Amino acid sequence: MIPALLRPLCAAAAASVDPDADVDALVPTNNPAHGDYQWNFAFRMAKARRENPRALAERLLPFFQGKPGIRDAQVAGPGFLNLFLDEAWLAATLVAQAADPAGGVAQSGLGKTVIVDFSSPNVAKRMHVGHMRSTHIGHVLVLLHRAAGYTVVGDNHIGDWGTPFGKLIVAWDRWRDEAAYAADPVGELERLYVKFGDATNTKEHPELDPAVVADLNDRARAETAKLQRGDPRNRALWEDFKSKSLAEYDTVYARMGVQFDEVLGESAYADGVDPIVDAMLASGQAELSEGAVILRDGKQVAVVRKKDGAATYTATDLACVRYRLDRWHPDRMVYVTDVRQAQHFAGFFRIAQGWGLSTELVHVGFGMLKLPEGTMSTRKGNVIRLVDLLDEAVAQARAVVDEKSARIPEAERAAIAEAVGVGAVRYQDLVQAPASDIVFDWKKMLAMDGNSAPYLLYSRARAASVLRRAADEGQAPAVADLRLDHALERELALALLRFPELVEVALRTAAPNLVAEAAYRLCEAFNRFYYELPVLTGGDARASRLALVQVADVALVRALGLLGLRALDRV
Ligand code: ARG
Repeated sequence: MIPALLRPLCAAAAASVDPDADVDALVPTNNPAHGDYQWNFAFRMAKARRENPRALAERLLPFFQGKPGIRDAQVAGPGFLNLFLDEAWLAATLVAQAADPAGGVAQSGLGKTVIVDFSSPNVAKRMHVGHMRSTHIGHVLVLLHRAAGYTVVGDNHIGDWGTPFGKLIVAWDRWRDEAAYAADPVGELERLYVKFGDATNTKEHPELDPAVVADLNDRARAETAKLQRGDPRNRALWEDFKSKSLAEYDTVYARMGVQFDEVLGESAYADGVDPIVDAMLASGQAELSEGAVILRDGKQVAVVRKKDGAATYTATDLACVRYRLDRWHPDRMVYVTDVRQAQHFAGFFRIAQGWGLSTELVHVGFGMLKLPEGTMSTRKGNVIRLVDLLDEAVAQARAVVDEKSARIPEAERAAIAEAVGVGAVRYQDLVQAPASDIVFDWKKMLAMDGNSAPYLLYSRARAASVLRRAADEGQAPAVADLRLDHALERELALALLRFPELVEVALRTAAPNLVAEAAYRLCEAFNRFYYELPVLTGGDARASRLALVQVADVALVRALGLLGLRALDRV
């Protein structure tokens, strides 16, 4: 990571040693005595070239000394270069960053299109906390790509096709409770689905009559086939199940602040599958095997058409790739699911790459969300519903807001509690590296202090309130007044400078947790400044500090926005 303006300096210095050398990242220092950034290039190169590292570092000094933005450059220790940024340059950079609609984030995505395939629940089941991760991580990936200038298509690739619907139709015909369906449609569908599972699960229920089980399964297959052939009654039931599910999901998404550009489920690609499988057969990429169509990929075999002609998950995803290529010509497609699907994605990516496409295909696999007693499963009935988690979080936030902010009118307090509660859950999820498994813990999920959404939201509200009080006193901040005289002002300035760099790293590595971390650091620096240094009563420093609060406020709002948190003006 190198701040944009220092990149050419580092590149020139590195090239003077070896034009082909990798340019090491600048490392932010923790100790101001060592400068703002440390560069280890000379040390590394000298070792490789068996030269004296200090002497090499000395030779590189002129590439930095006296250059714009650099107050001082020194050789330290065994051959490190310590760089001290110039305060006036730093101040001017922050002002420019605040005015830049992109907030200083490199526009690496200009002219490029990315599709982010995320959330993607299987319909006719209620959303549980396990659906949170794909939704949160995918949403931040959408926001990060937009911040870098990409044209983004966020697509909710819902599971709305295939055998589950045949099962559901059979269960509907036998066991439906119309009143329950009217009151809680998705709850009733989920009950029916579980009921079908129980009625056919001979492993867990050895007492079941095998003939009855076989009959249920046959019927389910037959209903699925009828649905896929366009049978009007099955089509109508399917439409109804699906629209009821989506209506319920939409209320949850609205609370989570998540929007999609498309909600194209698996069914959207149903007609696209056969032509693709036929083409793969014709080209020899796929082959017939015992009535099914398969692809060999090293030791692995991917089935793309089952014996009975039905499409597979892989075939549907291949048809979906074709559709997206034709419609959007994307430069990149990102799929966000749990890691258990890693093989599926690696496999169909290789097949699609066999078509010679230039689109970058990325699977972001996240770790499992488990309960202390093990995995969650709708069938086992041990799931925590997402709405219940959100409701509980909002209730707890509400208690805090009522206690702390009784002066704020009721309706606004409710809105604050909603933002804080839903935000707390979102942040607890995002702050973990995607790859790590999470054990669900109510207390942790609802944490309202420490590294949490409330901490971030409250920090920004503090900035907003300083600006509001200044406005009440008739003084608008003028960013041109910004000076960085005090160590704490400088520290905040550095956190502001680093924020867009970290956003770029988070985008490159598909790691929303890095945005969370950068936002947290920014808030920490802001709070240290805010609590130690008077702003409105700062005397000579007042105008400059107000300017700093102003640029910090812009950055804090952006940071919250990138995390999908709703910034609050007061709390
Ligand atoms: N519906 C799938 C699931 O719940 C996730 C779909 C992910 N996207 C895709 N194009 N395969 O596991």
